[in-house]
Amino acid sequence: MRRLAVFASGSGSNFEAIAAGCKSGAIRDAEVVLCVCDKAGAYVLERAARYGVDILQFNPKEFSSKRDFERMIADRMDALRVELVCLAGYMRIIGDELLERYGGRIVNIHPALLPAFKGAHAIKDAFEYGVKVYGVTIHEVDNTLDGGRIISQVAVPYEGDDIEALEEMIHKAEHKLYVETINRILDK
Ligand code: GRF
Repeated sequence: MRRLAVFASGSGSNFEAIAAGCKSGAIRDAEVVLCVCDKAGAYVLERAARYGVDILQFNPKEFSSKRDFERMIADRMDALRVELVCLAGYMRIIGDELLERYGGRIVNIHPALLPAFKGAHAIKDAFEYGVKVYGVTIHEVDNTLDGGRIISQVAVPYEGDDIEALEEMIHKAEHKLYVETINRILDK
């Protein structure tokens, strides 16, 4: 079994797609061994509990630096022998400690066709810009914001004016692409 950690700060629908994918075999020969969350009360914590996944929930403010809390995360991942880190709505830039210890094994999902619409409000930004083809990107993580090498992308064409419907389409596309891409990465 290949061992995954998923980092999330919010709802965790991508966490759930990955955990469910491992359980059903849609992601082959893999399991989620850790959910890392930097927000008390985030809904992802309920999802992780439901899937019986170990949770590492922490408050960054209780640490004197990013290096300190990342050291704690990396130590826990070492102990669990994590092979791949999937960021799924983790609202922080990954710092040097995690890049030094897990660099090349961290991927992120972004709800836009990078390099367009980087940042935390990609769907809204693209919608307000008036694009006609939205999309999803999975990329390697380096020390830039949404800037690492692109691994996979899918386009989501939409010309309507209902942003909630659009968000739903994009999230659906994310869940499918994350499952497919994790298989591709693990097969390498
Ligand atoms: C997703 O749109 C992901 O692309 C972005 O944050 C959102 C997380 O959603 N990075 P969820 O918590 O997985 O539902």
